[in-house]
Amino acid sequence: MIPSTPSLRLPMALGSARPLHRLAAHATLGVGLWLTASSAIAADDFQYSRPSIAPETGSGYEEKPGWSTSSFAVAAANPLATDAGYQVLKAGGSAIDAAIAVQMVLTLVEPQSSGIGGGAFLMLAEDGEVFAYDGREQAPGGVDESLFLDGEGKPLDFMTAVESGRSVGVPGTVRMLEMAHDSHGKLPWKALFEPAITLATEGFEISPRLHQSIAATPSLADDEIAGAFYFNADGEALAAGETLKNPALAAVLTRIAEQGSSALHTGQIAEDLVARVRHHPDMPGVLSLEDMAGYAAVERDPLCTPWRQWEVCGFPPPSSGHLTLMQILGMMAARPAIETPVKDGVPTVEWLHPFLEASRLAFADRGRYIGDGDFVDAPGGDWSTLLAEDYLAKRAELIKDQSMGSGAAEPGNPAPLESALASQPEQPEHGTSHISIIDAEGQALAMTTSIEQAFGARIMANGGSDQPGGFLLNNELTDFSFRATDDQGTPIANRVEAGKRPRSSMSPTLVFDRDSGDLVASLGSPGGAAIIHYTAEAIDAMLHWDLDAQQALNLPHAITTGGTVYLEEGRFPDAVVRDLQGLGHEVETRELVSGLQALRVTEEGIFGGADPRREGVVMGD
Ligand code: DON
Repeated sequence: MIPSTPSLRLPMALGSARPLHRLAAHATLGVGLWLTASSAIAADDFQYSRPSIAPETGSGYEEKPGWSTSSFAVAAANPLATDAGYQVLKAGGSAIDAAIAVQMVLTLVEPQSSGIGGGAFLMLAEDGEVFAYDGREQAPGGVDESLFLDGEGKPLDFMTAVESGRSVGVPGTVRMLEMAHDSHGKLPWKALFEPAITLATEGFEISPRLHQSIAATPSLADDEIAGAFYFNADGEALAAGETLKNPALAAVLTRIAEQGSSALHTGQIAEDLVARVRHHPDMPGVLSLEDMAGYAAVERDPLCTPWRQWEVCGFPPPSSGHLTLMQILGMMAARPAIETPVKDGVPTVEWLHPFLEASRLAFADRGRYIGDGDFVDAPGGDWSTLLAEDYLAKRAELIKDQSMGSGAAEPGNPAPLESALASQPEQPEHGTSHISIIDAEGQALAMTTSIEQAFGARIMANGGSDQPGGFLLNNELTDFSFRATDDQGTPIANRVEAGKRPRSSMSPTLVFDRDSGDLVASLGSPGGAAIIHYTAEAIDAMLHWDLDAQQALNLPHAITTGGTVYLEEGRFPDAVVRDLQGLGHEVETRELVSGLQALRVTEEGIFGGADPRREGVVMGD
């Protein structure tokens, strides 16, 4: 059923003069969900009430039921955060309003993964248009390509670089949310901070996952503020179930609530943040007050890619997420149909082999071509050359019955490049969170938000407060290639440059029906480079194999960036391992801790799933 054509607004000129992607004129959420123009509502219409949500019993792999709602839903990585979004939606707030409340609560309750000291990408659909807001961290103006090299020009040890002032990029999440709220918000900005400020002031119960993350990060104790805050007097990680108050964060959030993003980017909070970076005891960074004040979120052209009967919309560079995952899915679609992609809840070798081979090829292109588009030319001047149907069909021909083997995949030639680039070797990437929301009036979003490693750079800032707590600073700059060139001196697209945004794997995704323009799904995940595999698998499973959102997220994972294949530990029968080895794959098993969140529009409304590997839940009415 298609409701009356929603009015299409002119593209908004916010930070980018480029045209925005516009969906088919009949874009809507589908059955029962209508698009109407948003109108502002008063702060008094939102009264946050503190929920009594106890932490889950454990973390690891916990079966989840999947959640059915009729008109709106929010999926986030922590029940307190999901509940804050739910209360905002219930009060008539828009999806972006709810996302702001969720993000602020995540800063408090899932500080290891994301927060106001980090960056994010946000895909948002409203009134038949799709928007892409870039809040990715930015390299300070004072850095150059030697940022992560030692005195002899050799790359620093990865964790040494992470735990330093050098890895901290200018945070962008708050500026990005403010930009999106200016255009798509309904509730006043200030009201959206109420849940986080209340929980930070009154205290929240530490979840098992937060406890485990603190315990697994002993170096966090080296930071003056974080050490005193997340560990007890005996130096032990605070226990799950303990109540933790964060008055320093409550004070910072109160100032951002009242004054907007400039309270973070200028003045006392920025001064404190910059001082923490510049006075890092081991390896200071050069982040400046000018870098903080000068940061701007950017509205980019979303990438919307036809795939089977859907249009899949995702983020352009500086994220490599959409380009790489759609290369994988595009190559799969160019090959003969797979009869049985999944059996007894486990992907079959019939599906795994081409998926892994396509991943090898897609990651070879990513390593060669993708970097911040404000600094790096796209092949042929347009990123979509990497997704052209004929190009992917040719790449798919490289997938044979036997694996091409570790390290064998070479980048293709999608279109001419003005200057030669060298491939970037893969680096470890590990703290990120995903939020999917659909509101009752049809605004939908997918936002992936990060401070990079667990607890980011392991530096806590507190806005100059003398109270306990604060917020964590990102280490997102270690997503740059540590080396600027290959051994022949050819530059790498994702090398460090002043003012550049590091390449990301984050893949917030909105899917639409190609014919009607109806919203079909919102999803995404943390997981470093494996975000790409997790999201691609979930899209294929949910849309093409027609699993429900929860079944799709439960599937065991298999990943490769071109070398060893990693299968999720304990989730695949031995026969699958043997069969893949027989096809020439080097196979190892390990934990693959995705944090997928997905909302799928159904005949009845919305069905949501949350990753059984983390603490996420879905709420809605
Ligand atoms: O932007 C990126 O791709 C990475 N910094 C994301 C890191 C991540 O997902 C860690 N998650 N567990």
